[in-house]
Amino acid sequence: MPDGIVVVGADGRIQMANPAADTLFAAEPGGLVGRSIEDLVPPELAERHRRHRAAFEQRPTARPMNAYDKLLARRLDGSTFPAQIALAPVTLRGERCTVATVRDVTAQLATQERLARAVRRTLLAEDRERIARDLHDTVIQELFAIGMGLQAVVGELDETAPARARLDSAIDAIDDVIRTVRTVIFDVHRADDDVPLRTRVVETVAAVAPSLGFEPEIVLVGDIDHRIPPVVAEHLEPVVREALTNVAKHAGATSATVAVEVGDHLEVRVVDDGRGPGGRRPEGRGLLNLAERAAALGGTFHFGPREPSGSEMVWRVPLGDGA
Ligand SMILES: Nc1ncnc2c1ncn2[C@@H]1O[C@H](COP(=O)(O)OP(=O)(O)O)[C@@H](O)[C@H]1O
Ligand SMILES: [Mg+2]
Repeated sequence: MPDGIVVVGADGRIQMANPAADTLFAAEPGGLVGRSIEDLVPPELAERHRRHRAAFEQRPTARPMNAYDKLLARRLDGSTFPAQIALAPVTLRGERCTVATVRDVTAQLATQERLARAVRRTLLAEDRERIARDLHDTVIQELFAIGMGLQAVVGELDETAPARARLDSAIDAIDDVIRTVRTVIFDVHRADDDVPLRTRVVETVAAVAPSLGFEPEIVLVGDIDHRIPPVVAEHLEPVVREALTNVAKHAGATSATVAVEVGDHLEVRVVDDGRGPGGRRPEGRGLLNLAERAAALGGTFHFGPREPSGSEMVWRVPLGDGA
């Protein structure tokens, strides 16, 4: 879009305007000529503009019109746009006039804003990265060391020593804490909404994989990145993480599959070849939580045995109209 140029007489009337100026201010071709320049200023700024113009007439020098920090120009239809304006005095047929060059900087401002956001995001990401690294390098390593120390003590104890069971459960507890910290690290890494949902699913699985001891298979079907509304999307990672963490904690499996399918429903299916839900402890919160999440979205939740062995978790919610 070329710059709009208007020539304004000492009386504030527009004497000439180029076609770009007509377009910029939503005027008919030639429609700006004869109008007051204050017609192109938002009404609340018109009086101020008149005063500034009078001052300019006193000492006319070429300059950017930066008297107001954010300049708004007004189209003839009343809408406004951010403008960059430069003024230059000229003499036309003996009359002192002003040439105003007007540029719509909407796109420029948007680019600047995007750039500023990107910089802020990068700084935040660096912060998060550092926190995650600290957690990983210090907290997890120290917990590991404590666990190893206890393990060594267990090795020195008599098979029947009563302290053995207590130490074993302490070691289990430490393992649990390590798993939790890993999840936190993962969330810290992941706190960026710009990451597409498919990627987040893959990353969630990758985060749990170390405690599984094998790489689960991932099956993604349908347009997962675009078809899932935010209110549903926010559940996807927690559901996958809980189901897969259960496989790691309880199943003793050698393989597992995480399948996410999008159609008129979002279906998350996690199956393993482990010992199955037979000896299921009822006190867990995890499965209840999954059931509640499904119910809140008008969906269903199922957890049960799978043939020939292992367990199957199916979490399924409707995606509603247009999905
Ligand atoms: N994949 C699985 N294989 C075998 N048992 C499982 C599996 N998932 C869950 N369970 C059983 O169901 C119980 C309840 O799970 P959950 O509600 O997530 O609680 P938690 O994981 O805290 O024990 C578990 O304690 C476990 O006995
Ligand atoms: Mg659980």
